[in-house]
Amino acid sequence: MLSTKTILDIESIRKDFPILQRRVHGKPLVYFDNAATSQKPKQVIEAMEFYYKNYNANIHRSIHELGEEATAKFEEAHGKIADFIKADSYQNIIFTKNTTESLNLVAYSLTAGLKKGDEIAVSQMEHHSNFVPWQQLAKQRGLKLKFIKIDDEGKLDGESIRENITKKTKIVSLTHVSNVLGTINPIGEIAKIAHENDALMVVDGAQAAPHMPIDVKKLDADFYAFSGHKMLGPTGIGVLYGKKELLESMQPFLYGGEMIREVTFDGTSFNELPWKFEAGTMNIAEGVGLGVAIDYLTKIGMNHVQGRDKELVSYAVEKLSEVDGVTIYGPKERGAVVSFNVDNIHAHDVAQILDSEGVAIRAGHHCCMPLMSVLKVPATARASFYLYNTEQEIDAFINGIHKVKNVFGV
Ligand SMILES: Cc1ncc(COP(=O)(O)O)c(C=O)c1O
Repeated sequence: MLSTKTILDIESIRKDFPILQRRVHGKPLVYFDNAATSQKPKQVIEAMEFYYKNYNANIHRSIHELGEEATAKFEEAHGKIADFIKADSYQNIIFTKNTTESLNLVAYSLTAGLKKGDEIAVSQMEHHSNFVPWQQLAKQRGLKLKFIKIDDEGKLDGESIRENITKKTKIVSLTHVSNVLGTINPIGEIAKIAHENDALMVVDGAQAAPHMPIDVKKLDADFYAFSGHKMLGPTGIGVLYGKKELLESMQPFLYGGEMIREVTFDGTSFNELPWKFEAGTMNIAEGVGLGVAIDYLTKIGMNHVQGRDKELVSYAVEKLSEVDGVTIYGPKERGAVVSFNVDNIHAHDVAQILDSEGVAIRAGHHCCMPLMSVLKVPATARASFYLYNTEQEIDAFINGIHKVKNVFGV
């Protein structure tokens, strides 16, 4: 069987990413911080430059050629995202700033309808953006926040899922792929349990949508959130998918221009979906850029992107496991991230020495402080991969880890 690397022309993919040509501290850049944000292909950069040079205008309001062109491109991007995640229509797709804003939108709009004592279930592995909004709203509105535990491997514990999703649960909000452990959660199965209990299923897809084919209807997710900047798109544009009947029943999150149908001195009626949730001037160039990023990924094929991720992460785990004193966190079957520690060296020191070798990784709590307390570590180092990375880069990273060990004499 052909490897994905053989199917994809990695060298020509790399040529699309201008930043990969640069050097850091005199060494070729090895960019392994893709879970924080991905690099951008020239197609995306050029589309945004083209927008500003040729048809920059505000959308939905200007009856002139530029305004019509900008509106058409921005709306087209909604449609591309709908196709990308197999949603019914562009009306299911709301543009936000990022995953964080998408999840806050859902949290505010959904908890408004809950009563004291109602329960929300999240897990121990959630990113702060799928944790803090629920925690704060639970405190303000007298709701109960429940935590699904992880097992020793770093997967969601089956018993804890059943214990924490009950008839009292109104919302289950889980990450699809953990940004620390790489765990791929069985969202479809958990959505079924949530729905049997009449709870809604909210999914943080920040680390999943960039890396695997997503079918929101197969998953039966009620809401699915992700960020453009982690999937070759620009910063400042994120997505919230929602089932139409739910979005229609929800109160807007932001009020102001463009989200209205009619305003009088006595009241306001709201616009149709998705505009009801897109108040004010949106990030137009960013929406256009995200549309082009989606074209890029679609042309390669998300099954190929996922296949390539698997090759890279398996190779990295294999090579890291051969280094004495390295602890790897998370299950064998994982997304495109590997978190680790080297002996008792602080993760920041590991990252700093790797940086001097041109290797960019992330170190810290990865916006998952509760998870760090479960893992009983203050921080981890994390290497995260994407389609333009190579095995040679992983070799350079492993050489860097040996340098870390030499510097610390372990
Ligand atoms: C799992 C997960 N959820 C949410 C986020 C938040 O994404 P953003 O900062 O783009 O809102 C991240 C970002 O790292 C993430 O990894």
